[in-house]
Amino acid sequence: MRKTTLVTGGAGYIGSHTTLTLIDAGHPVVLLDNLCNSCRESITRLEHLTHRHVDFIEGDVRDSALLEDIFDHYDIDAVVHFSSLKSVAESLQKPLEYYANNVVGTLNLCQAMARAHVFKLVFSSSATVYGDPVHTPIAEDLGTGKPVNPYGRSKLMIEELLEDLAQSDPRWSIALLRYFNPIGAHESGLIGEDPHGRPNNLLPCLTQVAIGRLPELIVYGNDYPTVDGTCVRDYIHVVDVAEGHLKALQILQHSPGIHIWNLGTGTGYSVLQIIHSFEDVTGINIPYHFAPRRAGDIAQCWADPSKAGRDLGWCARRNLEQMIMDTWRWQSRNPYGYHSRLELPATVAMK
Ligand code: NAD
Ligand code: WQD
Repeated sequence: MRKTTLVTGGAGYIGSHTTLTLIDAGHPVVLLDNLCNSCRESITRLEHLTHRHVDFIEGDVRDSALLEDIFDHYDIDAVVHFSSLKSVAESLQKPLEYYANNVVGTLNLCQAMARAHVFKLVFSSSATVYGDPVHTPIAEDLGTGKPVNPYGRSKLMIEELLEDLAQSDPRWSIALLRYFNPIGAHESGLIGEDPHGRPNNLLPCLTQVAIGRLPELIVYGNDYPTVDGTCVRDYIHVVDVAEGHLKALQILQHSPGIHIWNLGTGTGYSVLQIIHSFEDVTGINIPYHFAPRRAGDIAQCWADPSKAGRDLGWCARRNLEQMIMDTWRWQSRNPYGYHSRLELPATVAMK
C-alpha cells in the first residue's frame, strides 16, 4: 500500500486546491468531507484536472468508527485537516455547533490518529488567533491575542489543544498554518470558492455583485485609521496557500514538535483598493455603498511571512491582479458555483 495523506474538508475551497497541489506533486490522497459547505462536483472537477480517480469518503470527522475504518483501510502517514465551520456571523448565533464541529472534531481526529499511530498533522489555523494586533506586520512570535467570536476562539482552542498534544508525546509533528485572507481560484476556472448560502467574505460578495446575484456591495466602515478609511487585509492566492501545505508536509517528515507559520503575502490592501483593482482588471463597475462598521472587524492586519520563507522555502508568488483574474474566471464561468452547468472539455482516461 502506498503512503497516503488524509485530507479532511477536501471538497471545500482551500481543501480542493490543496488536494490538486498534492496530487500534482505525486502524493496519494483520500478525502473526507460531509459536504456541509461543499459539493461532490468539486471532486468531479478535481478528477477532471488530475486525470485521476480521487478517493472521496462522504462523512463526518466526528464519526470515530468511520475514522477507524479509514485508518484501517488506507496506509495513512499524515493528515491535512481543513474540515471546520467557518462563518464568523453564524458562529455568534450557533456557538455550540462551532465548538462541537471544530474543537470536538479535531479532538476526535487526533484520538483516531493516535490509535492508528499517525502523528503528522497540518492544521488550518487563521490570523484570527492574533485578535486585534498591537502592530502590523504580524510575526508568529507576537503571540496570540483575543479572538472576538466563537469561530476565532475555536481556532485558538484547537491550537492550544495541539500544543498540549505535541508537548505530551515527541512522536507528534504538527504544523499550525495561520492563513490570512485566501482568495482567488485555480487558473483553470474549474474549482473555486462556492460558499453555501449568503457569503460573508469580501471577494465572494464582490464577485456575486459583478455577476448580478447581489445588487450592490456593502462596504462596512469608511472611518478606520487606514489609507482610505476602509479595512486593510492581507489577501493571498489560494494556490499559494495550497503550496504552503505541500511544503509544510515535507518539513514535518523530519521535524517533530509543533511549528507555527503565517501564510500571507506581507502586503495589505484596503476594501476600496480591492474594489478598484477588480474594476481595473475586469472592466466591470461595482456599485457599492458605505454602511457602519461590521461588529468584530479590526482596522488592519497583514502578515510578516518571513518565517515560512526561512523554514519552508515558501513565499506567495501570485500578485493581486492574478488573484482577481483567477477569482473572476472562476465566478464568471460558474455563476452559480458548482451548481452551474459547465460542459467539461473531453478528458483523457483516468489513472
Ligand atoms: P470550506 O467551508 O470551503 O471547507 C471546509 C470543508 O469542511 C467543507 O467542504 C465542509 O463541507 C467540510 N466540513 C465541515 N465540517 C465537517 C465535518 N464535521 N466533517 C467533515 N467535513 C466537514 O472552507 P475553506 O475556506 O476551504 O476553509 C478551510 C479551512 O481553513 C477551515 O478550517 C477554515 O476555518 C480555515 N481558514 C479559512 C480561511 C478563509 O478565509 N477561507 C481563513 C483562515 C482559515
Ligand atoms: C474583509 C474586509 C470587511 C464583506 C474573515 C474571518 C477570518 C478568516 C477570513 C477564516 C473586512 C469587508 C466584507 C462585505 C465588506 N476566516 N467587507 N463588505 O473579516 O478579514 O476575515 O475571513 O478563518 O477569521 O474573520 O475577511 O473577507 O470577511 O472581510 O466591506 O460584503 O472586507 O468589513 O474589512 P475578514 P472578510
